Amino acid sequence: MGQTATALLEGREALAGLDRPILVFDSGIGGLTVLREARVLMPDRRFVYIADDAGFPYGVWDEEALTRRIVTLFGGFLARHDPEIAVIACNTASTLVLDDLRRAYPATPFVGTVPAIKPAAERTRSRLVSVLATPGTVKRAYTRDLIQSFATQCHVRLVGSENLARLAEAHIRGDEVDDEAVAKEIAPCFIETKEGRTDIVVLACTHYPFMANVFRRLAPWPVDWLDPAEAIARRARSLLSSSGAQPEHGDDIAIFTSGQPDFSTRRLMQGFGLAQGAV
Ligand code: DGL
Repeated sequence: MGQTATALLEGREALAGLDRPILVFDSGIGGLTVLREARVLMPDRRFVYIADDAGFPYGVWDEEALTRRIVTLFGGFLARHDPEIAVIACNTASTLVLDDLRRAYPATPFVGTVPAIKPAAERTRSRLVSVLATPGTVKRAYTRDLIQSFATQCHVRLVGSENLARLAEAHIRGDEVDDEAVAKEIAPCFIETKEGRTDIVVLACTHYPFMANVFRRLAPWPVDWLDPAEAIARRARSLLSSSGAQPEHGDDIAIFTSGQPDFSTRRLMQGFGLAQGAV
């Protein structure tokens, strides 16, 4: 092949690379807390947001069945969207299937979202840290390993809430959420001993940062609510090999595995500048 043809081909490949989106995945609309940060750090990229709302909530799934479901779903997602990287914006999924996804799809770099136990252990003064997550995330071996590796000097309380992801979904959509119901879910995070009291609560479910203001208002005392979204976005940016192609307004899309997001969810997506994509 002549030099001009090779250069032309390389140019085309580079252009194709520019247009490869970043895929952001969650069980519902919680991953938008990560997408929000990712867009700030990577304004020149195109995003495909995928919510497996047909499987929501992930927190209560059996581990094997959930692993099978997510690995199978990704076969279709990757074939259809050919993302440059995939961000699993869900602690409940990441703490379970990251390794399986990487094994099944080695050509795609995966960025996970796992409980921010290490930064919490570095920052706490009282050494009383709580991890607010789904029931799935708190029972994962991955989460226990994080505590063993980075927080043995702390008392880490794991709080697996059955209801908070649903309450957060309702809150994000603009529905009225009962303060008492939320207060009940966050109450176990707050421990007081003779030596001190909880000073950091890790938001280990991507749905929860949307409720941080409500948590702050209802908390029995002020704590640092640790949201890892920005760190995840930074990690994602560090893995990109090309620069972006300046997406036009409306280029980013949201896909719901149910194929039928309700009216308030569709409005929310519009507010985020996400057009509805086909499943
Ligand atoms: N957003 C998900 C997470 O970060 C969980 C919500 C669910 O239970 O599906 O863990």
